[in-house]
Amino acid sequence: MRGRHVLGAVLALAALALAGCTGQQAVLDPRGPAAAHLAEFSWLLFWGGAAIFAFTMAMLAIGLVFTDWTKRTPPIRLVVWLGLAFPVVTLLALTVYTAAVGRWVDLGRGQDGGEPPLRVDVVGQQYWWEVTYHDGQGGTVTSANELNIPVGRRVEVHLASRDVIHSFWVPSLHGKMDLIPGRTNTITIQADTPGVIRGQCAEFCGEQHALMAFFVVAHESAAFEAWLAARRQPARVPEMPDLVAGQRAFLAAGCGSCHVVRGLAEGPYAAVGQLGPDLTHVGSRLSLAAGTLPNGVGPLAAWIADAQDLKPGNRMPSFHHLDSETLTSIARYLGSLE
Ligand code: CUA
Repeated sequence: MRGRHVLGAVLALAALALAGCTGQQAVLDPRGPAAAHLAEFSWLLFWGGAAIFAFTMAMLAIGLVFTDWTKRTPPIRLVVWLGLAFPVVTLLALTVYTAAVGRWVDLGRGQDGGEPPLRVDVVGQQYWWEVTYHDGQGGTVTSANELNIPVGRRVEVHLASRDVIHSFWVPSLHGKMDLIPGRTNTITIQADTPGVIRGQCAEFCGEQHALMAFFVVAHESAAFEAWLAARRQPARVPEMPDLVAGQRAFLAAGCGSCHVVRGLAEGPYAAVGQLGPDLTHVGSRLSLAAGTLPNGVGPLAAWIADAQDLKPGNRMPSFHHLDSETLTSIARYLGSLE
């Protein structure tokens, strides 16, 4: 009976561990060339280590069981071959392979002749990501907490920070790269298949570090161009009366002093603030508050009312004083900004 319980526990733990091997945020489920090399490398280290461990245990068992044989074998031979030659050869081979992997995963290297990479600037801040796309003709489009990229094309991500050190990590695409105040690091990523994967800040940056995530959405090339063209447009002008009222409430509540809504820069209450995420197309994003909540009218209203309860210590105040009708109205307006 006890044995069965132990077996059950072992199987449950194995299932839990294996569940981490696939999914939208997994080193061992690569969606691009750099991550594929890193996954191969991880498996080589795992199986190599397992084989050496098994061999060592076998040698130990042989030594304990076949004492006659071990007495006849001069110990110096074992020391020279297994204690010296084997580790030297293995570690040398691994050093060469590691250096090669380091070059293979550097997608920005030695491809000057091909299609130029898409450039995206990412600025980390407590606790969200500002994302600026360069369209290649001198124009830029700013968004937040989501990285939309074309499949099969290299994307050169320029990383900077506005406050403390963060780290950009999309396990299914590449390794980690820090965002350091006062300097710019770059990492070149590439996705091979369309789909949504998840990234996460990988450097402790304050109390909401764990809720500093983002999504990478990989599109087919034409779909990406269409996506970028749509995001280049200013915010949709509301026509329905309730959305017009929502926009008025949004401005009256002072949201525009921290957030940009492009196209809403006129009038006494302009939406030109630079402290929070650009909301011009917030309705089309997958998540709110850097992966904290799914997007939608309900979560938008909840976030505006209770930002400090949902993500304590973030820079957005809670707007407890707004009545539910006003909250819903603002949320519906923001949701319409696709
Ligand atoms: Cu940003 Cu951790």
